[in-house]
Amino acid sequence: MASGAIPTSKTRFRKDSRAAFRPRRPGQPLWRSKWANRSILPRGRGRLALYLFVFVVVVLLVPVPGLGSLRQLLLGILLFPFSASSRSRPGREVLKYIDPLIGTANGGHVFPGASMPYGMAKPVADSDDRRENAAGYVQDVSLIRGFSQLHDSGTGGSPSLGNFPLFVHPGCPLDDITMCSFSARSRAVMRWPYSASAKPGYFSLRLKNSVAAEMTASEHASLYRFSFPDEDDSENGQDISVEYSPLILVDLQDQDNSRHNGGVHVDPKTGRITGDGDFRPSFGTGVYEAYFCADFQGAKIRRSGVFMGDNPHEDRQSIEKDPEGKFNVPSGSAGGWIQFEPPTNGHILARVGMSFMSREQACENAEREIPKLDFDKTVEKVQDAWADKMSVIEVNEADIDPALLVTFWSGLYRTMLSPQDYTGENQLWESKEPYFDSFYCIWDSFRAQHPLLSIIDPVAQTRMVRALIDIYRFLGKLPDCRMSFSKGFTQGGSNADVVIGDAYLKGISDGVDWATAYEAVVSDAEVEPKSWNTEGRGNLVSYHQLGYIPSDDIDHNGTGRNTRSISRTVEYAYDDFAIAQLAKGLGNEADYRKYMQRSTNWKNLWNPHQADSYIQGPEEVRWSKFKGFLQPRLLDGSFAHHDTRLCSPVHEMHKCYLDTRWATYEGSPWLYSFYVPQDMAALVETMGGKKAFVERLQYFHESGIVYMGNEQSFLPVFQFHYGGRPGLSSYWAHQYIPSLFNTTYGGIPGNDDCAMGAFSGLAMMGFFPVAGQDVYLLTAPFFSEVKVRARNGGWAVIRILNFDPTYHAKYIQHATLNGKPYTKSWIKHDFFVQGGVLEYVVGIGESTWGTKEEDFPPSWPWPPVVEDASKSL
Ligand SMILES: *[C@@H]1O[C@H](CO)[C@@H](O)[C@H](O)[C@H]1NC(C)=O
Ligand SMILES: *[C@@H]1O[C@H](CO)[C@@H](O)[C@H](O)[C@H]1NC(C)=O
Repeated sequence: MASGAIPTSKTRFRKDSRAAFRPRRPGQPLWRSKWANRSILPRGRGRLALYLFVFVVVVLLVPVPGLGSLRQLLLGILLFPFSASSRSRPGREVLKYIDPLIGTANGGHVFPGASMPYGMAKPVADSDDRRENAAGYVQDVSLIRGFSQLHDSGTGGSPSLGNFPLFVHPGCPLDDITMCSFSARSRAVMRWPYSASAKPGYFSLRLKNSVAAEMTASEHASLYRFSFPDEDDSENGQDISVEYSPLILVDLQDQDNSRHNGGVHVDPKTGRITGDGDFRPSFGTGVYEAYFCADFQGAKIRRSGVFMGDNPHEDRQSIEKDPEGKFNVPSGSAGGWIQFEPPTNGHILARVGMSFMSREQACENAEREIPKLDFDKTVEKVQDAWADKMSVIEVNEADIDPALLVTFWSGLYRTMLSPQDYTGENQLWESKEPYFDSFYCIWDSFRAQHPLLSIIDPVAQTRMVRALIDIYRFLGKLPDCRMSFSKGFTQGGSNADVVIGDAYLKGISDGVDWATAYEAVVSDAEVEPKSWNTEGRGNLVSYHQLGYIPSDDIDHNGTGRNTRSISRTVEYAYDDFAIAQLAKGLGNEADYRKYMQRSTNWKNLWNPHQADSYIQGPEEVRWSKFKGFLQPRLLDGSFAHHDTRLCSPVHEMHKCYLDTRWATYEGSPWLYSFYVPQDMAALVETMGGKKAFVERLQYFHESGIVYMGNEQSFLPVFQFHYGGRPGLSSYWAHQYIPSLFNTTYGGIPGNDDCAMGAFSGLAMMGFFPVAGQDVYLLTAPFFSEVKVRARNGGWAVIRILNFDPTYHAKYIQHATLNGKPYTKSWIKHDFFVQGGVLEYVVGIGESTWGTKEEDFPPSWPWPPVVEDASKSL
């Protein structure tokens, strides 16, 4: 960074900026510095703070008799953010370990702004960095275009949402509004580097135009506090000709410039600005409408008007599509603005209510949720909501590197940013069921996020499952990917089948209509939609007839991208397994047999002769010792060839997407050849037995073929369990955390997808779900004790009796469950329902624990293996 960027001004405002300028060291526990300079003290409070400080010092240090209890109270308040024992608000103390800025660089695409758990309103500053700004803010030095109200978190694809940004000018040159810039492109301004500060429910940033912006949120509304430098300090600004008279504009635009239609209205008396627009989703097809309602407080209105492009109009207070269709609001930047007198308190508050139904509902949402524009109270409320969510987990912090605690809690926090609760805001159909949006995408989230939520937030998970079923009810198919009331692109299988099957096995059933749920998953399996790019499955006729998707298939029933024949085959097979489990649970034995039979379809693409080559040097090909991989297969039954390493980090990683011609999606045949969660015992056999399997899985992790930045790699970290080496699962979990999951801005190996944090959270707690099964693979937790609130009110406790904070001893030697020896390397969900105590002794080497075949996690062979009576003798 350029040293010239360090400000030299005398104002307090800019000094603060300089203090916040210090970049953090990689791995530095951030919460310390962030909490130290998190607030931008409004003017006039400084003196009061000083008096208070002196008072506190006197009470604490001067031994005046009779002040004992007051002293204790003050100590309690002072130490509150750092104390592990504040009892009034359970769980709130962990918020200091949550750093929302993790994953805001290097492709993490994490949303670091303010949000309620699963909240709809998600205000943050939007960066002008198209490669990285999928979630709005990027931790770099790109320009800031404004502060918009809706976002998704952690997605790939194009920039998502980002509707109705506010932008704030401290004033216009020569006090002439036409000299201010209005459009997104021309108004974008630099920030003070590293001035961003974030914690749950709060985000702030300082702009180089001297404006400091803080923001918080309720369920459906953003609340901003914009602060300005002292009026008489304006001569220290960059442009002395700017007259201090703040101008705030609301742009109808979204991040991806997708708006058409819409309109805006400014009330010059009250300052209320309302508006709407039609937008396109970021990774799908369709259109959605969004509405806002903005109110301001803290300064007198001087003038107001609308703008189109860079042209403000003071004589016009609205631009609306006229009913005869002769005038449409032009696409691009357009909106309303208000110019204020200098604010009496140094800041202006702005509340922006949001709705997907109407402008009126946007106003009602804002008035109901933030009636008084009380910034601090709103922050408290959203922090209480997060504290409540986090209170279901407790870990022993003793001896733990704070950075690991930050990795852990921040990851759990991110898993509750999306899907977003749009109940009451469904613009597509009327229903009494909950409506969630931003399942973005289930291909990413079914593996770790939803199973985690089934444990730590079963109520939300139940509502999400009900929302999925309701989407089926009204649209005819379950989604795989869904955002902004639109169908998103399907990446793999129909993985909502696994979410629903998993929920069934885990008792996520409150108000769930299982008959319709079953109808929905069977529809995925049996009825091909006309366009299967955005729902259901493709190539179903061949899949049913041949038991695999031929790479040269001709599909007469529907259209879709005829690619990914390997990855779709193995995903369909596992989805069918999930359907079979549900069929069995619902008492449908015939369907159970049918779908179990289909769950073996992975075998049909297994080419036992396929060797694995790698390039050693120019023109020189070498072969690894591994043979037998999933390969593409033609209609005539013969195998085609697909490089076993193609689309892994070691060979042309970025070749396998939806529209490329390859047989795998975002991964290699090496990776997909491990995807047989339904029958790992058969896979182990197919790969040549336990020893060969373990060797191969080791090689997968050691050789760099694995890519931990994508969710398909989560389960293979723990699949050593199926080879009788659960210690190696523990080993690899420690290899990846914290080296790839850590507290830096780029501390996630890929798009977060609200899933990466579920991986680190689960791995650190020591139980990893096999999604779609009642199975958690056990490894030693990263803490001496983990407590998870059990469904029946008690606790599921996992404890290491001889905990080693250096993690040399990370291999389970011996375990007891509720006092009795426990030799299985896995546990059932019942542990998290009933509660109980799982205790470990760990050691520095692998042990015999979990190595006997009878202690392996279960496999579901088909046809079922009949017990050999002679064997049991
Ligand atoms: C494919 O189309 C045929 C003819 O319309 C229909 O009978 C069949 O059920 C369809 N198959 C699937 C799997 O959708
Ligand atoms: C943190 O994680 C990122 C992303 O996985 C990785 O590139 C980086 O090397 C890690 N940093 C440290 C200090 O471990």
